[in-house]
Amino acid sequence: MGAPDVQGPEYVSIWKVILVGLDTASKTVGPYRGCGSIPPPSAIMSINNYMTTYRIIEDCSPYYIRYTFDGIENLTNLCKTYILPKKGEFGFRHLRLERPLVDNVLDLVPASKQMPLQKDRVSLFMTEPGFYYSAHKDGMDHRFSLNFTVTVLDDKCVTSWYSDEDLKTYKISTDIIPSANNLYVPGASREVLEWDKSKHTPLKSMVAKPNEAILFNTELFHDWDNRTSTNRRVVLTLRHQNPGAVYFEDARKILFGY
Ligand SMILES: [Fe+2]
Repeated sequence: MGAPDVQGPEYVSIWKVILVGLDTASKTVGPYRGCGSIPPPSAIMSINNYMTTYRIIEDCSPYYIRYTFDGIENLTNLCKTYILPKKGEFGFRHLRLERPLVDNVLDLVPASKQMPLQKDRVSLFMTEPGFYYSAHKDGMDHRFSLNFTVTVLDDKCVTSWYSDEDLKTYKISTDIIPSANNLYVPGASREVLEWDKSKHTPLKSMVAKPNEAILFNTELFHDWDNRTSTNRRVVLTLRHQNPGAVYFEDARKILFGY
């Protein structure tokens, strides 16, 4: 794909640390919290003889959970070396990384020790200033994604979620017969057709911050809006190997123990 062939031997594994009790996570993280709550500062996660520390920044289930972990800067700095310049007029570019870059990236993702992640869908989403991606659900049945903010230079890019009920009158791209004129790749996602954002109020909106991880509910309609920004935004996004079977709440349980 033309990405620089950057190897990562200089990155020391952050997983070679002590083993702690397997049940520590659920004790520390505690029960479900309401949207926007800020839990205690850390949850020690023990994963297959490795340890990392997740710190939940904001649990806004069922829309998203913002969190961070030790070593996230190693991950985002590595991804920065893979970023490509803008290509063409379209303001959004989806770059799927190839091996060995994929392995370098996943080595630095704690979740890859907790759940199987797709190696052919380790992607950088590069959103240019002024770009708006309209309401959709990911894939045909992708329930959640793991996102990591690689480049966020301002607070202008807003992600919003909407209810099925609110959008029930729209046709979805999966409802139409594919043709050469389709704006979206047939079967690739569930796009809201003839979407009019001005007529809807989001259930929830979020502005991602630098060097954060986001458990993202892609099974709810959502859009993102970088139209008021003068900066490019880059996000690393990962998928479960069985994306139709594992929902947001399942992923939360796997990651955080609740
Ligand atoms: Fe999406």
